[in-house]
Amino acid sequence: MNVNLKERPAAGGSQDLFYSSSNTKSLPTIIRGENIHVFDDEGRRYIDVISGAMTASLGQGNKRVLQAMYDQGVKHTFSYVRVTRHLPNAELTQLIASLAGPGFERVHLSSGGSEAVEMAIKFLRQYAYAKGKKQKTKIITLMPSYHGGTLATIGWTGDEDVAVVWGPMAVFGEKIPAPLSFRPPFGNTSEEGARGSAIALEAKIVELGADNVLAFMMEPIGGQSTGANVPHPVFFSEIRRICSKHGIYLVFDEIVSTCRTGSFLAAHHYPDCKPDVVVTAKGLGAAYTPIGAVLAPASMVDELADLTGFNLSHTYNANPITCAGAIAVLSEMTERNLIANAGPLGELLRQRLVDIMDNSPIVGDVRGKGLLMALEYVRNKETREVFSSEIYASDRIRQIGVENGLMLYSRRQNGGRYGDWSIVCPPLIITADQIDDMADRLKRTIAVFADEMTRAGVL
Ligand SMILES: Cc1ncc(COP(=O)(O)O)c(C=O)c1O
Repeated sequence: MNVNLKERPAAGGSQDLFYSSSNTKSLPTIIRGENIHVFDDEGRRYIDVISGAMTASLGQGNKRVLQAMYDQGVKHTFSYVRVTRHLPNAELTQLIASLAGPGFERVHLSSGGSEAVEMAIKFLRQYAYAKGKKQKTKIITLMPSYHGGTLATIGWTGDEDVAVVWGPMAVFGEKIPAPLSFRPPFGNTSEEGARGSAIALEAKIVELGADNVLAFMMEPIGGQSTGANVPHPVFFSEIRRICSKHGIYLVFDEIVSTCRTGSFLAAHHYPDCKPDVVVTAKGLGAAYTPIGAVLAPASMVDELADLTGFNLSHTYNANPITCAGAIAVLSEMTERNLIANAGPLGELLRQRLVDIMDNSPIVGDVRGKGLLMALEYVRNKETREVFSSEIYASDRIRQIGVENGLMLYSRRQNGGRYGDWSIVCPPLIITADQIDDMADRLKRTIAVFADEMTRAGVL
C-alpha cells in the first residue's frame, strides 16, 4: 500500500492530524530505532532526549523484552483476569511488590497511566465506602500538575485552561499551589514555598471538612507539568503529618518518576513520607507494552476483598503478553543496575545542564533527580520573567532540536504562566559519552533560539 505521511491524505493519516496543526509542522517520520536513537526516512539520527514520552527507558529494540512477549504470546495469548489466573500476572506483581517494598504488597495492573490514576482513586473510594466513610469523595491536587487525559483525571489535573472546554463535563477537584522550587508560591525560597503549600493543604482540608476529603494526590518529582520540580524535603514530612492527622489518603502519582530518580520509587527518597497508595506506569513497560499499576498495602486490599471487593476492571488489565514484557523490562533494569545508575548518571547530566545554564542568557533553572531533569527558559534571568505566551519557547526549541539531532518534547500547560521548560529524561541505558553528545547538541540548539530572540529584540 502506498502511504503518504507528509500531507493530509483523503483517508487515514497519522495520529498527529488530530493535534493543533501549528504545533505539528515538519514532524519527522521515524522508520527505525536503535539504542537511544531513532532514525527518520531521510536518514537523520535523533537522540531520544525524552524517551518517547518519558517512557522508553530501555531504548529501542531490546531483544530480551521482545522475545519474552513473543514467547508468551505463542504459549498463551490471552485469558480474562475475571475468570482465569495466570503465572505472568502473579510473577510480575511479586516482582513489582519486591521492588516497591513493605506497604505495597498488592499490585492492580491497568493499561496505562490515566486508567491507573482513576483505579487508585476508585479503589480508595470503594475502601472508604466499605468502611462506612461514605462522605469521602473530594480529591485535593496541586496547581500545576498532571494526572491524565480521561474525564476524571482532567478534573484532578492542575491546568487552569482546561475548564473552558471540559468544565461542564468533568468533576473538578480542589487545587492548592504546588511547591515549585524555582517559583515558590509563598515566600522567597523553596523551603518557604513548600511550607506555605503544606499550610494551604491543611487549610483546604479544614475548609472542605476532613470527613469529606478522600485523598491528596501529587507527583513527588514532577514530570512535564512542572518541569521535573523537586519539592523541598520539608513538604514531604509536612504532608504526611497533615494527611495522617486528618485521615486523608496520600497518593503519589509516580507514572513518570518510577525507575528514573535513582530508586525504584521516588517515594524511597523520603522515608518519613510513605504514601498510602502509589500509581505507576511508563517505566514499567518501557514503551514495549502499555501498562500501569496501582500499588497498595495487602492489609487494605485484603480487607476490602473480604468486605465488598473492588469490582472495576478493564479488558486488558494484566494481560499475559504485557505481563511477560514488563517482567523482562524490570529484570533488565535490575540485572543491569539501570535504576540505581540513574542516580550517578543524573549527576553527570546535571553538571552538563548547569554548564548550559551558566553560559546561556535564557536558561534560568536546572532541576530534577536522576535521569528526570529539566531546563527552564526565562526571558530575564534576574527577574525570572517568562517569555510571552505567543513565544512558545520550548516548542521552538523542540523544532530547532530536530535540526540538531534531538528528539525533544513540548507541551505547555497553563499557557506557560508557571514557566516553560524542556524535560531531559533520556533512556536509562544512556552512557556518559552519550550524555556529553546530547548536552553539546542541547547547548547549540538553545543558543540558536537565544540568537533568534536577540535578533527579534525580545532579549
Ligand atoms: C504524572 C502523570 N500522570 C498521569 C499521566 C497519564 O498517563 P497516560 O498518558 O499513560 O494515560 C501522565 C502522562 O504523561 C503523567 O505524566
